[in-house]
Amino acid sequence: MSMASVSSAGFCYSKSRTGGVRPNIAAATPRSLVVVRAEAQAINPEIRKTEEKVVDSLMVAELSKPLTAYCRCWRSGTFPLCDGSHVKHNKATGDNVGPLLLKKQKE
Ligand code: FES
Repeated sequence: MSMASVSSAGFCYSKSRTGGVRPNIAAATPRSLVVVRAEAQAINPEIRKTEEKVVDSLMVAELSKPLTAYCRCWRSGTFPLCDGSHVKHNKATGDNVGPLLLKKQKE
């Protein structure tokens, strides 16, 4: 069992059974609650909306790999690289975003 107290600086601390003092994160949480909800929402309202998916390619002379796909939907779990999450995003929102492809130029 621990008791929370508020210091003069406004930070909350708890005294543990062993007598140690540690910050009490739960007690320090402000009383007002901010709820952030991630709603599926299109992020491309106007660019090339007649295309099923907007994908652009650049040829680059010096690349370590033949092809690298960079995410432009902000949903990738491997950001900044594309992991295909744009497909799910496009289905959920009706959006048409796709990656930027960097392709190694053939010599
Ligand atoms: Fe974002 Fe592919 S995961 S563009």
